[in-house]
Amino acid sequence: MGWHFAHIAYTEAFWILEKLAHHPSLFPQYRRLFAADGLPKSERQKLPSIEFVQDYLEIVRSKVLYYLETAPLANQIRLWKWLIQHESQHNETICYLLQLAEPKGSYPKAKSHPIPNLGEMVKIAAGEFIVGNEGIEAQDNERSCYLLDLETYWIDIYPVTCSQYREFILSQGYQRKEFWSPDGWQWKENNLISQPLYWSDTPETDYHPVYGVSWYEAQAYAKFALKRLPTETEWEKAASGNSQKRSYPWGNQHPLSTQCNFDTLIGHTTPVNAYPEGQSAYGCYDLLGNVWEWTDSWFGGYPNFTPYPYREYSQVYFDNQHRVLRGGSWVTRPWVLRNSFRNWYYPTVREIFAGFRCAKSED
Ligand code: AVJ
Ligand code: FE
Repeated sequence: MGWHFAHIAYTEAFWILEKLAHHPSLFPQYRRLFAADGLPKSERQKLPSIEFVQDYLEIVRSKVLYYLETAPLANQIRLWKWLIQHESQHNETICYLLQLAEPKGSYPKAKSHPIPNLGEMVKIAAGEFIVGNEGIEAQDNERSCYLLDLETYWIDIYPVTCSQYREFILSQGYQRKEFWSPDGWQWKENNLISQPLYWSDTPETDYHPVYGVSWYEAQAYAKFALKRLPTETEWEKAASGNSQKRSYPWGNQHPLSTQCNFDTLIGHTTPVNAYPEGQSAYGCYDLLGNVWEWTDSWFGGYPNFTPYPYREYSQVYFDNQHRVLRGGSWVTRPWVLRNSFRNWYYPTVREIFAGFRCAKSED
């Protein structure tokens, strides 16, 4: 956590104070430790004291706010918007670390109505739609937009819930090789995986989305359910519609606490049907917030991809080793919550707050 806090300060100082304000480098002796490209993760060990890190954050932030008063913002907006999204993503990692250190024990009694039709799907008719986002807030990997003609497909109305996932466990899903990809089976065997990382087997979370699953577990469940994972573009079309493209499932207004579970406003997952006001035009629930959703897609560049603000931000991960996630989680900050936002992780990662929903092709 100390590393992430200091890296937030370092990154803000580097891009705003050094690059924009032409300020001399602050604490250059810490560049190697706190820059993203400085040291391998395993060597981010000998950190200065937490008091130093707090002072570092405060010094940088106060200088940045002072500069902001007179900064020529017109040509800088993209970088400022990038920076807050950078901080937001490290905030989320800090939340994962907190959860790993002190797992959440109990959930308040669910006030939600039981869901009559878990696994219910909506049919999305074939047709063109625009993928991506060229707004000033868009990350390099969301650009450029392109027109895509998808075949007709079906997608789950809700993310897969704990009660659905329990059926997979009770059906010996973790012991039945036929559901797993060869790599997934190897990974599961080597790591003795037999349930999700954040699995709490209680009725309170029956209608909450399952989370703490790797891409491999998501893929195996989908096969068990005679479905598959959606591609990232199928997910995005289900969220943004195909006629009037929406930035959010409900339209173009910034997220409200009545539309989805985000920003640690609640402090845990919620039932997948808790936010009827957050439905997409196609009637899908819970696309943004609650849990990230694994998709079938490898992370790659859209047409005319141009790195921003540095090549190592997205481009080095276009390596056919990372799967795309969409949608955000209950700890995601609002600045990275939108239909077009792409997250990416190795298919083995489980500490992120990720679940999934399923799709299927028209038979
Ligand atoms: C895209 C969330 C995997 O947090 O490691 C932060 C984003 N890139 N600093 C991460 C990121 C540079 C990245 N993820
Ligand atoms: Fe970073």
